Amino acid sequence: MEGNKTSVIFLMGVSGCGKSTIGHILSETLKIPFFDGDDYHPKKNIRKLSNGIPLTDEDRYGWLHTINELAKEQLQKNSCVIVCSALKKSYRDILEEGIQGQVKWIHLIGSFEQILERLNKRENHFMPPSLLKSQFDTLEQPKNALEINVSLSPKDIVDSILNENNNKSEFGLFGLGVMGKSLSRNLAQKGFKISVFNREVKGSEEGVAIDFKNAHKELETAQAFSNIRSFVESLQTPRRIMLMVNAGKITDMVIEDLIPFLSDGDVLIDGGNSNYLKTKERYDYLKSKNIHFIGVGVSGGEEGALKGPSIMPGGNKDTYNLVKPYLESISAKDSNGLPCCTYIGEEGSGHFVKMVHNGIEYVEMQLLAEVYTILRNMDKNPDEIAKILESWKKTANSYLLGITVDILRKKDGDDWLVNKIVDKAGNKGTGNWTTIATAQLGAPSTMIASALFARYTSFYKEERLNAGENFGIMPLKLNLKAEDILNAYQFARIINHYQGLKLISEAGKAYKWTLNLSEIARIWTNGCIIKSDFAEALIPILREDDNILNNHSIISKLKELKPSINRVVAECVLKELPISSLSESVNFLNAYTTGISSANIIQAQRDYFGAHTYQRTDDPSGKFHHTDW
Ligand code: 6PG
Repeated sequence: MEGNKTSVIFLMGVSGCGKSTIGHILSETLKIPFFDGDDYHPKKNIRKLSNGIPLTDEDRYGWLHTINELAKEQLQKNSCVIVCSALKKSYRDILEEGIQGQVKWIHLIGSFEQILERLNKRENHFMPPSLLKSQFDTLEQPKNALEINVSLSPKDIVDSILNENNNKSEFGLFGLGVMGKSLSRNLAQKGFKISVFNREVKGSEEGVAIDFKNAHKELETAQAFSNIRSFVESLQTPRRIMLMVNAGKITDMVIEDLIPFLSDGDVLIDGGNSNYLKTKERYDYLKSKNIHFIGVGVSGGEEGALKGPSIMPGGNKDTYNLVKPYLESISAKDSNGLPCCTYIGEEGSGHFVKMVHNGIEYVEMQLLAEVYTILRNMDKNPDEIAKILESWKKTANSYLLGITVDILRKKDGDDWLVNKIVDKAGNKGTGNWTTIATAQLGAPSTMIASALFARYTSFYKEERLNAGENFGIMPLKLNLKAEDILNAYQFARIINHYQGLKLISEAGKAYKWTLNLSEIARIWTNGCIIKSDFAEALIPILREDDNILNNHSIISKLKELKPSINRVVAECVLKELPISSLSESVNFLNAYTTGISSANIIQAQRDYFGAHTYQRTDDPSGKFHHTDW
């Protein structure tokens, strides 16, 4: 919708509800074209109708597609009003196919008696009133329409529609933390009329919403609230509300607070780092209340949220289509100008993919930390390390590499700031969830686990200092070539991406989500924390095969880099420098490429103490055997 905020107003209702009259007035008032759906019936439908024969669904489908085409064509140029009975959900689905986010439904409602009386007063109407009953029988109430009673005067009906359109916002943002604020500004900068909400907490969160609105020029037309009811009522229906609150219990509490004010067909979008299993639970819960829910992973931090994040939405596809124009518009764009936002798949798949994104992020960060510790143990100071990493941008560029160069150069007084930062890494839980998920799904994302546990180990600062004294371990100066370190880093990054993508692919199979890994790599090329040149290179590779280790160019690359990582890991182990993720990457490939592993011993042990049985190499049937050891 960016720069093109056109919309189709569909006026619907049974024959005789007055939709043509209202449609005409509305189109004249708004100075946009008017189309009467009935004018697009093929001749055979008109013949049937004038002979008093009801149309079948079959009769209607071609006609509805014609109107859908008309709507799409109009949207390219202008907004428009289209009147059409659109009694069934399946009819409305055809009418809004491909343009869901740009459609406003207005349903003119009245009782059978009311409408019959109106019809009886009409002359030359091609449908006899006797067909009205079948229309009422067919009518499936829309859940996402503005309902207006036909007993109001045409002027009042049009005023209600205009009021909804002009005074109400099209998108709501709930929660004005760092990310909520940036996303709100991003939406407003794209020309969307928004409402923003932040709670009022005496002493800590006072006047947040209104102060925020007043502080930014682009929020001039935005509406700011600290009252939930007023916030909800300020939104056009179906309401689209993005929650940007802390993941976990707070999200559930906010949903409960909102429910009493929501109507059937409204959409809640959870943009936090929520657990994917909770997203499915929330989806089911809200479905029982006729509220749509989608879980959306948003990556890019404060700056990304403002200038264009990478967005990973999951849930029901039709619901996604209702918010697609907003999310695509605010997202980052890839090298071809396409939005770094794509429908990921069903249920909590959007949050799952965001979670794995964070797992990959943990490893990418850990690898850079290991490179830093290696270079530090080669007597390089932060500026010298930054210079080396800067030169890596030519071959291994990524957002995280870039910020690490900046970080290393930052001075604080006479010293570098990094030298003053306590070496205890924090976390907000997504790496933990990824590690749990990978264990539950039986996928060996060993690097994500190693990066997570490296953070946990770092946290035991006092014990580490004590143990250092007890064991007398003191890393010795390393003797390595810079080229080998770069090669080792690249090798480990490839394995990291393989493992993360493998985990996503396994989840897709286990949860029956239809996932497109190439598209996922594409939306990771910009806006997100793990954006990198390598993500770009993965797009065509993943189009061929979900397993990147089957790809010839990846195989050759890993073969070429392997001697370097062998040297780097060996040297670090010998000189007692911890490099858990680099070493895990090489150990993983060694295990993954071992045709004959040591797992025969594990199977024998399991059978020995627990009669768990084992398969035999000399029995091709695959039968399970047991030995009385
Ligand atoms: C992103 C980040 C973002 C956040 C992480 C930090 O993609 O924008 O991943 O979501 O910075 O939650 O996670 P930790 O605090 O666990 O490192």
